[in-house]
Amino acid sequence: MQIAGTVAHGRAFFDLLPRPLGFIPTMGALHDGHLALVRCAREECTSVCASVFVNPMQFGANEDLAKYPRDLEGDREKLATAGVDVLFAPDAAVMYPPGYSTYVDVGDMGTTFEGAVRPTHFRGVATVVTKLLNVVRPDVLYLGQKDAQQTAVLRRVVRDLDLQVRVEVVPTVRESDGLAMSSRNAYLSAEQRADAPSLYRALNVLRDALADGATKTQAVDRAQVVLAPSAAPDYFDVVDAFTFEPKERLEPNTFVIGAVRFGSTRLLDNLYVAP
Ligand code: PAJ
Repeated sequence: MQIAGTVAHGRAFFDLLPRPLGFIPTMGALHDGHLALVRCAREECTSVCASVFVNPMQFGANEDLAKYPRDLEGDREKLATAGVDVLFAPDAAVMYPPGYSTYVDVGDMGTTFEGAVRPTHFRGVATVVTKLLNVVRPDVLYLGQKDAQQTAVLRRVVRDLDLQVRVEVVPTVRESDGLAMSSRNAYLSAEQRADAPSLYRALNVLRDALADGATKTQAVDRAQVVLAPSAAPDYFDVVDAFTFEPKERLEPNTFVIGAVRFGSTRLLDNLYVAP
């Protein structure tokens, strides 16, 4: 596996890689959820590039960027073993040199749900992924269903900016008790970790209640009963998979979404309702 830390160095590799080229952007601290994206790319593409970049632009002022887990050596090993051809791992000064001032803003869909709690988050995600796509110029962009709103935002960016890339969304990888894998799970206490799978159970109850004809209010009430008492709900809803606009009923191509807090740790999860 080759490693590039600058745009010029990266492009020298990317321009020569046999096509199709699959790309997996990450912020590192890799777990099996990330590696499922790599496996998917490895199966479908001739060449695979992954990036590891903890993007300061997508962290709010009150969020602890410094605390975000970092393990570049471990990540390098995992990606090499998974068959990645090139790892792009730039420093913040490479991505945002002094005088940097351009942003990609997706408008309203970046202001609801996660965007309501983290107002500049999706602007940071859209900007960094646009930059990464311009550097790597892949044929396929691999994203995890785990971050459903991020998939909708990035599909919108690709469509609105005519980016020449296909977006592939890979199903969420879970622990054996149903908890979606996430680097944030490491922040949970033993008791919170034991209670955390109740988010997934609540989403299943919400989906099943809607399928049985309950109204959204009734379905959300039933879902909240299943949540562990230590979990403070932020939101539960049903949204269109592409626009992220709320829906009253379970329809094809929707996400049943939920976010809860365990102390200061927020956990997200969702279920996809296929067409
Ligand atoms: P990060 O949180 O590192 O996630 C990188 C990719 O892995 C995302 O597409 C995410 O949805 C996917 N992923 C995370 N957990 C997963 C799981 N349990 N199952 C399947 N896929 C999972 O998301 C980001 O980084 C950043 O916002 C990024 C897109 C890299 C932009 O900075």
